[in-house]
Amino acid sequence: MFKKNAVAAGMAAFASVALAAGCAVADGSKGSDVDITAMSAEELAEHLIFETNSFRDQEMQEGGNWSDRMTQDELQKACSFDNTREDLDGETAGQVVAMARAGYEAPESIELGDWRKGAELADSGFGYRMGHNNDDHGQREQGGNCYNCHVFDPRVSTQGTIGPSLENYGAQRGTSEAVLRYVHEVISNPHQYFPCTQMPRFNSDRHQLLTDEQISHIMAYLLDPESPVNNQ
Ligand code: HEC
Repeated sequence: MFKKNAVAAGMAAFASVALAAGCAVADGSKGSDVDITAMSAEELAEHLIFETNSFRDQEMQEGGNWSDRMTQDELQKACSFDNTREDLDGETAGQVVAMARAGYEAPESIELGDWRKGAELADSGFGYRMGHNNDDHGQREQGGNCYNCHVFDPRVSTQGTIGPSLENYGAQRGTSEAVLRYVHEVISNPHQYFPCTQMPRFNSDRHQLLTDEQISHIMAYLLDPESPVNNQ
């Protein structure tokens, strides 16, 4: 929901601006024989993204280009069914879990980092930019955007409820080796446990949105007994 809708909304917004601009867009596109006025909003958005040079070849901040970002990998394809996850059948779920496991690399050892840094990362929605490189976004650290979907500390007012509340997460589970491994696996690629979940893959063969070091700080925020998450 998070990613798909954001992209769809962006494309729709872009398409309506382009439609309003009319001929200006037709002049700017590569093939002058293309009649953009006959296109639906979706077709126009796809045309602008994939057929013209406006976005297709533009480098993305995380590497690759726009069309790489827009091309689904096998896991996303398997999860692109209609309606809700209720429609997920057992066979597909098993395939998604197997793909997620194959794309996960376990670090040799997992240590908890600094929960203060983890709190900042969990509360930061600063992500990789797409579609423009007008300023140098590379100067700023990417966040995890976790607060968008999870409550960590109910005293903070703007936290999402798409995912379960993670209040007292570590206080309830402890910090055994098994817990550390599980939490690292979930943050890196949650499809290993929750096939076709809405939670993004933060460090997998598809995306490296957070480094292992950043994940260790976020894990400390979730699990360290000193963290506000565990003192409510
Ligand atoms: C777009 C929404 C979304 C974002 C962003 C998100 N999550 Fe999640 N998360 C979920 C959902 C939904 C689940 C429940 C799994 C399911 O059933 O799909 C979940 C599950 C989890 C779990 C497992 C809970 C358990 O029962 O053990 C942990 C831990 C977790 N998320 C941590 C994080 C962290 C840390 C971040 C940020 C780096 C994050 N999540 C970002 C949606 C999200």
